[in-house]
Amino acid sequence: MIQYPWHSMRICGIRSLRFTARTTYSQKRTSQRLSTMPIALITGASREDTIGFEVARQLGAKGYDLILPTRSIDAGRKVSEVLKTKHEVNNVHVVELDLTKPESVKACADEVKKQTGALDVLVNCAGISLASTYDKGIEALKGWKDYSLTEGLRAIDTTHDDLEAIFRTNVFGAIELTNALAPLLLQSKAPRLVFVSTTIGTFESADKPDAFNHYFFAYASSKAALNMAALSYSKQLPKLNPAIKVNLVCPGYPATALNGYQGFGTTPDSAIGIVELATVDEHGPNGEFLAAYAPYGEPGKMGRVPW
Ligand SMILES: NC(=O)c1ccc[n+]([C@@H]2O[C@H](COP(=O)([O-])OP(=O)(O)OC[C@H]3O[C@@H](n4cnc5c(N)ncnc54)[C@H](OP(=O)(O)O)[C@@H]3O)[C@@H](O)[C@H]2O)c1
Repeated sequence: MIQYPWHSMRICGIRSLRFTARTTYSQKRTSQRLSTMPIALITGASREDTIGFEVARQLGAKGYDLILPTRSIDAGRKVSEVLKTKHEVNNVHVVELDLTKPESVKACADEVKKQTGALDVLVNCAGISLASTYDKGIEALKGWKDYSLTEGLRAIDTTHDDLEAIFRTNVFGAIELTNALAPLLLQSKAPRLVFVSTTIGTFESADKPDAFNHYFFAYASSKAALNMAALSYSKQLPKLNPAIKVNLVCPGYPATALNGYQGFGTTPDSAIGIVELATVDEHGPNGEFLAAYAPYGEPGKMGRVPW
């Protein structure tokens, strides 16, 4: 059984000490905490069929309080209601966030600080894949090996607008949000920072003749950049709080809007590895790119994805 950081705290009573310490650090903010449970913020949980929603559901079932930032507050309220009524996950807080807008990222972080005064887990799960070429990309995924369908998605065809849209969300947004929330996250006794990436963003998989990655250039390169960002955080943040664990995870290929529901996995299965990394104990990995599905690993025994 996985031992989560919060278990030992509950058992040995450090849990209450932790919050006493925070009260001393910032009396005003702590008095506005959601509750005394560990707090996880997950992006990309705006719909029931997203991987982010499943991460939220599984963390909620483990007793975490949830902050779900969504572009549309109505969408956030809707998933919050679903979590409550269908899954008995009640501690859900919805915040507005558009990762493409720096002012929205800042407002989201300010709101989290005001409302909770604490953050223990940040899961960067929101992402887009194909921007304006979405329909073309979905056709390509349907044809799978028919690469002629991916015209417009190779490096040579990629437009400024597509690159900008994808990098704004997948790279700039994830980094800006992480930086905005880092001061809060680093105050936690056991901070966990997880980036949801994909094997398509690895050089190992791309460095093969006619690799699939090159037919989804903007997405693949945005995830390669995200991988570097995550690796960089994993080297630097432990200098500020040695208890932090920063990791990357590939969720597999579940059927979601991102791939036009062409994937063959499920979001509950895809969320398992993400949740494992969000809840690892102090002996867990740091600076690893992992997956909980074959051929890399399995649930409960995640394996390395070659960079
Ligand atoms: N599905 C796969 O096969 C697969 C494989 C490998 C990796 N991944 C990664 O897994 C993560 C989740 O993907 P998914 O399959 O769950 O995709 P999805 O169903 O398309 O969900 C994407 C989520 O990101 C949110 N989002 C997009 N742009 C945003 C923005 N500007 N600001 C805030 N939120 C934004 C979406 O919110 P809206 O509802 O507002 O659009 C939605 O909640 C992504 O990072 C993706 O790259 C997926």
